[in-house]
Amino acid sequence: MNKITIVGAGRVGESAAHNLAKAELCREVVLIDIKEGVAQGTALDIQESAPIFHFDTTLAGTTDLHAMAGSELVIITAGIPRKPGMSRSDVLDTNLAVVNEIVDMLLKTAPNAMLLVVSNPVDVLTYAAWKRTGWPRHRVFGMAGVLDSARMASFVAMETGFSVRDITAMVLGGHGDTMVPMTRFTCINGIPIEHFLTKEQIQKIVERTRGGGAEILSLRKTASAYDAPAAAIAAMVDSISHNRRHILPGVAVLQGEYGLHDIGMGVPVVFGENGVEQVIELPLTPEESAAFMRSAAMVQADLDQLNK
Ligand code: 2OP
Repeated sequence: MNKITIVGAGRVGESAAHNLAKAELCREVVLIDIKEGVAQGTALDIQESAPIFHFDTTLAGTTDLHAMAGSELVIITAGIPRKPGMSRSDVLDTNLAVVNEIVDMLLKTAPNAMLLVVSNPVDVLTYAAWKRTGWPRHRVFGMAGVLDSARMASFVAMETGFSVRDITAMVLGGHGDTMVPMTRFTCINGIPIEHFLTKEQIQKIVERTRGGGAEILSLRKTASAYDAPAAAIAAMVDSISHNRRHILPGVAVLQGEYGLHDIGMGVPVVFGENGVEQVIELPLTPEESAAFMRSAAMVQADLDQLNK
């Protein structure tokens, strides 16, 4: 890719920009932030690491949303983060206004771009952004499942002591307390985790995964997670920019899959050069399906609030 713009130069945006640059996933990264000097300073700081990390990606920072012009991919990390005790939905109204403003400028300046939404509540905001663009759904998607799955894989590695490289985890559903860690599809070198862990151990991992964001927030107190979220963004961009067609859990607008219409939810997605190349519909057990539907109902409740 030539140009990727990240709107929001907070910690997630900054860390994501550095990851994209280090991996040379595009020629140019533009960082935009409303706080005067922040995006400029961050871009310059990352740029100055280029001779050490040996990357040719260039970075620029600005407060001007017009700088999105010509981007192939725009990543929205802007918005207010939650404070301890707040749910992701508590920041909906503020962040919706932020996303709407960015989308309106995106439509004017980069009408052919793809859009990756990271701001919370991500399922709702991805859907709202998609609706506002009027674009085909393959061009608008959200980041949550790669992060949640990475958390789950980390906890499996901590519990078993096996190499994290061998662990594939899969978390679906909305990015909230009702997310659905799919233990049946979580394996260590192809071997289901049930072989190594007791039901109780697995349940603990499921619960820790669901509270993964809150755990970091309660420790840091003034900052949400950003290192793992930014790594997750880079994994998605890598699959898109190299057209690798990795199957990654991501927020996609569903149009009939899993029996759901007109909602943004975490599902397994094939990510390639066109963004969402395919939504994969997994056969779910009645129990998994019930958990997925519970999660969908939570996302729908936020969507209903938005339509009021
Ligand atoms: C997280 O899960 C902030 O939603 C983000 O850490």
